Amino acid sequence: MEIIDSIIEKTSQKIAKSRKTTKKLINISTITNEFQEQITRVDGDIPADLKIINGERFLFISYEQSRYTHGLHKYPAKFFPELPRFLIQRYAQKGAKILDPFMGSATTNVEAMLLGFDSFGVDIDPFAKLLAKVKTTPLDEYELRVATNYIIEKIKEYKPNQAVEYIPSFPYRDNWFASFILDELSFIKKVIIENLQNDIKDFFLITFSSIIRNVSNADDNCTRTVVRKRLHKQIYPSMALVKFVENLLLNQYRMIEFSKKAQSNQTSIIEYDAKNIALEDSSIDLALTSPPYVNAVDYPRTHQLEIYWLDLAKDSLLELKKLQIGTETVYKKEYESLRRTGIDIADSVIEKIYYKDKRRAYIAYKFLADMEKNLQEIYRVLKPNGYYIIAIGNNRIRGELFESWRYLLALAQRVGFSIELYFGSEIIKHFIKVKREERINTDWVIVLRK
Ligand SMILES: C[S@@+](CC[C@H](N)C(=O)[O-])C[C@H]1O[C@@H](n2cnc3c(N)ncnc32)[C@H](O)[C@@H]1O
Repeated sequence: MEIIDSIIEKTSQKIAKSRKTTKKLINISTITNEFQEQITRVDGDIPADLKIINGERFLFISYEQSRYTHGLHKYPAKFFPELPRFLIQRYAQKGAKILDPFMGSATTNVEAMLLGFDSFGVDIDPFAKLLAKVKTTPLDEYELRVATNYIIEKIKEYKPNQAVEYIPSFPYRDNWFASFILDELSFIKKVIIENLQNDIKDFFLITFSSIIRNVSNADDNCTRTVVRKRLHKQIYPSMALVKFVENLLLNQYRMIEFSKKAQSNQTSIIEYDAKNIALEDSSIDLALTSPPYVNAVDYPRTHQLEIYWLDLAKDSLLELKKLQIGTETVYKKEYESLRRTGIDIADSVIEKIYYKDKRRAYIAYKFLADMEKNLQEIYRVLKPNGYYIIAIGNNRIRGELFESWRYLLALAQRVGFSIELYFGSEIIKHFIKVKREERINTDWVIVLRK
């Protein structure tokens, strides 16, 4: 297949070019932002001893979002790697055990391994668990190269209608995918499942998954899975085969880079729920995470097409959604009456929301109640003097500013933590002019100590 040979050539050139341009950059400057405030801008790696005053805001510019296994697959609300790297270097001593209780795509764990630490990860979402496992499992370079070449040769033998038994059935499948794409995807899946095993197979399945949104009719750049007619997305025959080979070569390179550097450290993915973690009391030195935002991202819906193709769920995703902290799946009997957290600054906002929308008020209350359970659980598993570091942004709920980070600070103190430090990280894509009081474009990093 000529088209596959030409994509191999192009992708190899792209990798060779990126090899040359990968350089370490550390640069700190003071800039004036849109609000005429002076803030510190850090490009690239953040120095562990960066001077930070409580409440200070920074603009961090990331250059490594696709490097190592970070780039294997998209995931909503990912950490930029420089942030956990900086926090681990600043707060973990040699030999420390690190935990991310809402690990998502395991950015914290990948960074922990690259820095020479063992770590643990918890996530309720089955897709996150598979992705995290692949991103934190080093592979043997030789075996990976042999498997890659073998699978590419098989892909070149593609003929339609050879793998219909691998097409999953799920709601609206034929609206999400063109029939020739269903055919190509099922062929790729068959080639992987029938020829590979164990960790290598999972790496190929995640690479397979990484093209699914791209070759579907859904908008590539939306956290929800939606078809937008006016996008006029171009889907063409052999697109899935070409994209797969392209991503496979890129991911192979990323995995080799990661595997060489990660050495012998391990990540253990443990069951199950960030409110109930199967770890001993006082066993962890540093917990570091970005929890879900209240009603901001519906994780199972975001990667629903991938979940179905990987056979991680059948039919409805409702059961998966209910387990998520910040879930919008709540029942009428739960939200009839006004609920209070006992934290005044939170309750006054929840009350304002309640008079506009009882359901949303309950969602906000439940988010904080669940996060308090998570804070208690992390308090239990942390060693005395251990740190819990949380990065979280604010939301607007029915027009009311919901400052999650401030409420979490208050809840953490109620649980017994002391506050070590808090600082803001401007979110670059929102670095635009909005009224000061409407600004929700900062993630807050709070450092708590047991
Ligand atoms: C903001 S994301 C984490 C992203 C991660 N920092 C990364 O770099 O990919 C939040 C994660 O919390 C998970 N989550 C939600 N509720 C949970 C629960 N009850 N227990 C464990 N994980 C949960 C979601 O599935 C999602 O993966």
